Formats: sequence, C-alpha cells, structure tokens
Amino acid sequence: MTSRRSFIGSSFIGALVTLIPGKSFGAVSKAKKTKVCKISSIPVGGGKIIKSTRGYLLITQPKKNTFRAFSARCTHEGCTVGPVATGTNAVSGGVVNCNCHGAQFSANDGSAVRGPARSPLKKYVVSKDKTYLYIN
Ligand code: FES
Repeated sequence: MTSRRSFIGSSFIGALVTLIPGKSFGAVSKAKKTKVCKISSIPVGGGKIIKSTRGYLLITQPKKNTFRAFSARCTHEGCTVGPVATGTNAVSGGVVNCNCHGAQFSANDGSAVRGPARSPLKKYVVSKDKTYLYIN
C-alpha cells in the first residue's frame, strides 16, 4: 500500500520531470546520432575507414543490408586499422588489418582474430535511412 507521503513525493518528482522540457533523466536520455556515410559507399563483403566527428570509424557490410560500425582505433597500441587512405576497401577475406604490428579484426563482429591485439574493436550501434548510415 502506498502511503500518502510517498504518493505525494513520487507525484512531485513526476511533475518535475514533466515540467522541465528538453531535460533528460537517466535511462530515458537518447544518444545523439552521427551521420557517417552513404549506404551505397560500403561494398558488400567489404568495408571502409570513414573520418567522422567521432574519429576514424570502420564501417562494414558483411552481407547485403547488414552493416557494422567500429572504432578504427586498434586495441593493441592505438594505430588506425585498415589502409592509410580513407575511401578504399579496408576489408579482405572478412578481416581488417592493422598495419602497425599485424593484428587482424573480424569485419563482422570486431573481434581480434590475430594478435598482438586481444580485445575487440569498440562497436557502435548502426541505423540507417534510405540513403545514409548513422551511429548512435
Ligand atoms: S597497434 Fe595495431 S597491431 Fe599494434
């Protein structure tokens, strides 16, 4: 049973949340989306290094209409994985290479498949509209 005091207290907090427009509280806050590239620029079975406001990203399409996004920062010592030039296909044989010390990462899930890196690439949630891919 809810006491009168706790009912009034929870109602007051609920009213505060309702009355402060644009303010988000805890779990209800939304992550900001970042547009990263055109869908058509990512080859099926491949991926590209994209320079974004969140740093270099590895965007892959392991199979048609399945997209993945990772930080392109190698988890060994921080080099950028993939080819030095952005825009070229960074994935070969389902993996992306780090040219600094030879680590390889899965283009599907970002896991380290060859050392010296042991940890996976940082993952981002990917969303899309008709034309563009976004990360959250
Ligand atoms: S920094 Fe990537 S393998 Fe060492």
